[in-house]
Amino acid sequence: MLLGVAGGIAAYKSAEILRRLTETGHSVRVLPTASALEFVGAATFEALSGHPVRTGVFADVPSVPHVKLGQEADLVVVAPATADLMARAAQGRADDLLTAALLTARCPVLFAPAMHTEMWEHPATRANVELLRSRGVVVLEPASGRLTGQDTGPGRLPDPAEIADLARLLLERADALPRDLAGRRVVVSAGGTREALDPVRYLGNRSSGRQGYALARVAAQRGAAVTLVSAHTSDLAAPAAVDVVHAGSAAELREAMLAAAKGADAVVMAAAVADFRPVSLVGHKIKKSAAEPDPLRLAKNPDILVELVGGREPGQMVVGFAAETGDEHHDALHYGREKLVRKGCDLLVVNAVGDGRAFEVADNAGWLLGADGTESVLANGSKGLLASRVWDAVAARL
Ligand code: C5P
Repeated sequence: MLLGVAGGIAAYKSAEILRRLTETGHSVRVLPTASALEFVGAATFEALSGHPVRTGVFADVPSVPHVKLGQEADLVVVAPATADLMARAAQGRADDLLTAALLTARCPVLFAPAMHTEMWEHPATRANVELLRSRGVVVLEPASGRLTGQDTGPGRLPDPAEIADLARLLLERADALPRDLAGRRVVVSAGGTREALDPVRYLGNRSSGRQGYALARVAAQRGAAVTLVSAHTSDLAAPAAVDVVHAGSAAELREAMLAAAKGADAVVMAAAVADFRPVSLVGHKIKKSAAEPDPLRLAKNPDILVELVGGREPGQMVVGFAAETGDEHHDALHYGREKLVRKGCDLLVVNAVGDGRAFEVADNAGWLLGADGTESVLANGSKGLLASRVWDAVAARL
């Protein structure tokens, strides 16, 4: 892999991105611009990558690095990509080692822009981004938030973990991030709900939220306006360019989903929603006593997916998830098919769970079932890869 680093303050985050890329076992060469080295020293990149770092084309000339590096790469990530770097890349300039490598690379290229909002929104930058995208370069939507000084707005570098996840996705599948959801609004739920027993205890589940976050991230980078209704998750960074709404219990998630689904083109229920809640919430911490505790009395929660299907607007697609195990009678796929009919959704992702699969891990696999009778295997891969397959199916039906 090549990691290009352009000269913006977010260059300090490139060391973290580099560490994450090398941790997955890849060999990474860092190509900073001369300005990037004003922010981060070459020694940092050399130590973390294990390779020498140069900015110009006149070092180590016999090995022709300005041609070879690009030709031999499987992936080029440029993070941060500044307005200037994107302008040079759009023009096809080759005035340093990074831009020369960009011209010779034939592999997927991922730009993670970072700049002030004014620069990001300037017509010149917009035109450069469009031109790069039209040539197949993946130019990420930046995050919104605190910029260099006190100002906030779109232009923040996406979280390093997110950039590393998207880099992995492009290695798995070069065409995972087309802009086919531009102009669409989608809603995704993620994580596990918690049903309170008393002020400190709850009934919960092991959902990490990683699949739902991957769905939201991939949709946003495919151009959709995304609302992510997030129940409890493991420590996950908010995906860039996604509107995050937090929900704790099934009741809160239901309210947030029904509100967000209005006018949406697609709704995806990836959250693990509790099927039951304690009948009553005890106002104080339940005391430990010598006597045996009272049995827990539970009430049924509404099935949000079924409600979303019932309230589906014309043309709206509703996608469900089903974590299934087989038993002595049938396999997981059989139960998935039954659930598709029972829930009435347009698409159902069936994950075979158990034995350390699906929950709390980075990878996922299963089947994608359509109400139109289509069935496809979702081969094992990252949760981003599975997300990209789901959005393929949604985009094709919208
Ligand atoms: O019925 P089961 O919980 O196995 O179905 C899983 C699907 O239903 C998931 O898409 C999940 O988000 C959704 N669900 C729901 N409301 C519930 C329980 C599950 O929307 N109360």
